[in-house]
Amino acid sequence: MGKITILDLQKMKDEGEKITMLTAYDYPTARILDACGVDILLVGDSVGNVILGHANTLPVSIGDMIHHTKAVARACKNALVVIDMPFMSYQTSIEDAKRNAGRMIKESGAEAVKLEGGVNMEGTIKAITDIDIPVMAHIGLTPQSVHKMGGYRVQGREDKQREKLLTDALAVERAGAFSVVLEAIPGKLAKEVTKKLKIPTIGIGAGVNCDGQVLVINDLLGLSGEFRPKFVKKYVNLEEVISKAVKEYISEVKSEAFPNDEHSFQ
Ligand code: KIV
Repeated sequence: MGKITILDLQKMKDEGEKITMLTAYDYPTARILDACGVDILLVGDSVGNVILGHANTLPVSIGDMIHHTKAVARACKNALVVIDMPFMSYQTSIEDAKRNAGRMIKESGAEAVKLEGGVNMEGTIKAITDIDIPVMAHIGLTPQSVHKMGGYRVQGREDKQREKLLTDALAVERAGAFSVVLEAIPGKLAKEVTKKLKIPTIGIGAGVNCDGQVLVINDLLGLSGEFRPKFVKKYVNLEEVISKAVKEYISEVKSEAFPNDEHSFQ
């Protein structure tokens, strides 16, 4: 199997095959996810809160993104690698957005960028796709706008928000985005958007009727502590598995059960 391209993703939508996407931030995890056959690995700016311990995604720098994406890209034989454009790397001007998108693709090894926004980012998405860099859009709950939204809230429940969401979706498609993430919107609205758009929709907290789904890998693996939004399914509790292994190691070192002959040189 060769590398998944944006054309393959469009074909999957056209043929009704669901698209899988997960976040990844490091080489060993990306190697496992890629070998499992996930279609897209997103190096999300969620690296800020998930990996680097920040309160939100706002402090993440272009350097942080490139550093983590290089590791992920080295591990990926099949999945399309998408790099998130961090806060203030594309909002200041279209020139900045093009320059930063170009640098991020050039230095990181990713094949596409993702950025947040709808109508307000139409010109920016068009400018980046016009220099032949594929753009994944992200609408609905956009974490970089956390302060404007007044917290992480479901979007598109009221009529005005619903209309805005539909307008944003059409704008990013018109601008040339190859797909769009729909975050934290009612399933009914995500279904309507997915029907209206020709490009694939990737949902997170947007119900089953999107063309694909994305989750943050640490949430899926049970490595996010108490953090558990409604849309997250914890497929395994790795925190428990890791704690058990580490406690066993501590106890065996203390009791001199480790290392035994099997793990020592004669
Ligand atoms: O940064 C991220 O992890 C994301 C996904 C939640 C879509 O944008």
